[in-house]
Amino acid sequence: MLKVNNLNKMFKKTMAVNGISFTLNKGDVVGLLGPNGAGKSTTMKMIAGLLRKDYGDIEMDGINNNLLKAKSKFTYIPEVPELYEMLTVKEHLHFIADAYDIDNWEEKATKLFKRYDLYDKQDKLAKELSKGMKQKVSICCGLLPEPELYLFDEPMIGLDPKAIRETKLIFKELSDQGKTIFVSTHLLDSIENLCHRVLVMKNGRIIADGDVKSLKNKLSNGKGSLEELFLEVTKDE
Ligand SMILES: Nc1ncnc2c1ncn2[C@@H]1O[C@H](COP(=O)(O)OP(=O)(O)OP(=O)(O)O)[C@@H](O)[C@H]1O
Ligand SMILES: [Mg+2]
Repeated sequence: MLKVNNLNKMFKKTMAVNGISFTLNKGDVVGLLGPNGAGKSTTMKMIAGLLRKDYGDIEMDGINNNLLKAKSKFTYIPEVPELYEMLTVKEHLHFIADAYDIDNWEEKATKLFKRYDLYDKQDKLAKELSKGMKQKVSICCGLLPEPELYLFDEPMIGLDPKAIRETKLIFKELSDQGKTIFVSTHLLDSIENLCHRVLVMKNGRIIADGDVKSLKNKLSNGKGSLEELFLEVTKDE
């Protein structure tokens, strides 16, 4: 579904992403972990085509990610919601529905609003929303098109416990439908039961790649929490 080969990005003197390669298969739910500044968001933005790569290849179903044909295959949720201040909640979904040419969008939007407690906020302007509400609208915009691939950059940040649970449930449903999810997060306990595989980044490189169980076995004989595993693989030499 997604193939990333030798991807690089340099910001002045910072090597934000340093020659990473990986493949996500259809139906994979893959967590992208790593300390602050590891290069997770930079990677996500390049895959989404919002940030120019220095070099490397990114393909979705064999199609270059910058081609329009690839754009309809995925949605991307940025780590900070980017909403239009003067559009209402519902107008955001309408806008996405037009962009992705979605039928029955109102029905789908209503279902999402109910799941995310936004039903009675539909006519509020984005600028009137709380931080968590903005994040929920951003997630709803990412879910509405029902694409094959979801690129979610720290989707749980700012969400209340109910919305976190709802998001986890939705990930499970999408995974059951064979959709591919690439999700960066710092909430390690949310990863453990959700992700088939984790990629751990540090200093722009992938330093671990595998399913949680085998990574645990490799590093600590299967003992300990994912948190301990994370701290072990990302510690400074
Ligand atoms: N626009 C930019 N200009 C210059 N440097 C940048 C820019 N964006 C990111 N960087 C640098 O690139 C590196 C990777 O940043 P990135 O945002 O990808 O990290 P991250 O893994 O998403 O971290 P976090 O967990 O804090 O979200 C950091 O050293 C950061 O300072
Ligand atoms: Mg980030």
